[in-house]
Amino acid sequence: MRHETAENDPLDEVVTWRDGHVVALDQTVLPHEIRVLHITSVDDLVDAITRLAIRGAPALGVAGALGVALAVRQAQRQGWDESRLAAEVERVADARPTAVNLRREVRAAAAVIRRGPAAGEAAAVAVRDATIGVSRRISDRGARYLSEAAGTGPLTIHTHCNTGTLACLGWGSALGVIRALHEQGDLRQVIVDETRPLLQGARLTCWELGQLGIEHFLICDGAGPFLISQGLADAVVVGADRIAANGDVANKIGTYALALAARQAGIPFVVAAPESTIDDATASGKQIPIERRPDDEVTRVLGVAAAPEGTRALNYAFDVTPAELVTAIVTEDRLIHPGREPDTTALVS
Ligand code: MRU
Repeated sequence: MRHETAENDPLDEVVTWRDGHVVALDQTVLPHEIRVLHITSVDDLVDAITRLAIRGAPALGVAGALGVALAVRQAQRQGWDESRLAAEVERVADARPTAVNLRREVRAAAAVIRRGPAAGEAAAVAVRDATIGVSRRISDRGARYLSEAAGTGPLTIHTHCNTGTLACLGWGSALGVIRALHEQGDLRQVIVDETRPLLQGARLTCWELGQLGIEHFLICDGAGPFLISQGLADAVVVGADRIAANGDVANKIGTYALALAARQAGIPFVVAAPESTIDDATASGKQIPIERRPDDEVTRVLGVAAAPEGTRALNYAFDVTPAELVTAIVTEDRLIHPGREPDTTALVS
């Protein structure tokens, strides 16, 4: 794998296909370094996904589709037979377990490559283009819904993790909603959780908001529920890695505490996500696989030891918010109120 600094707008390089290989922005070194990865093998793609160089559910879906095209190229170069190719494709699908988009897009792309490598590459690139379009539709629908649901006047939105261009391409999901609110003049400011342990909020969301000129404040994760109880936010808006058929939502660890606080404070808790994140094959949150990551992501902070040598950690990367705490799920196609019939009067087309 080769890496270089970005010549183009780095946000155009989040994850894409160029000259027969995958190009991706290495999100582990943002915001202090812009590093573009040139990924030519399944090993390197799996590594990039596993260490979160490419991350966020929709971006993982794009990486999965492109990963199948990459595997086919590598199979041609190295003379893999069909069973080896299938095994390598499966490694891409398995690189992270919680975001359903990854496995879903790998499966879809794997079905298309039966029609030949060119068709597979074209289909993978189409997934990327569609993901960009979908993010804009979620953003606009979510902003219109929130300006109705969260009251009058410019809103203060509390968010968690990173759900912008880096996670979704295009405008993002939750952060896209925030951007659309800003564009329509309905946003006061954003409260951003730092998102321990890998600091997607501090490193990535603050970087994106800064580039957009959107006023924001960074807080420690533990401060979120208290600040919500003090009336600082008008709504909580987050993304999702997988939404079960009953409306339970898996998202970055720390989301559940915000949902409880939002319910207690009587403010909307809104999930913005593409339809492709809804997993009808998973009945409830209990069946969602929750990724457990290495202890040293918690015991060290940005690579520096924080806990005594030998400390063990429980590093669950995601939690599940029960459907009953979710005020609305906004997708590109609809507004869903989990736990009750869709409120079609509030449906914004
Ligand atoms: O571990 P990450 O950084 O991939 O987790 C990302 C999140 O939890 C996002 O909130 C989620 O993928 C939604 S992105 C629109």
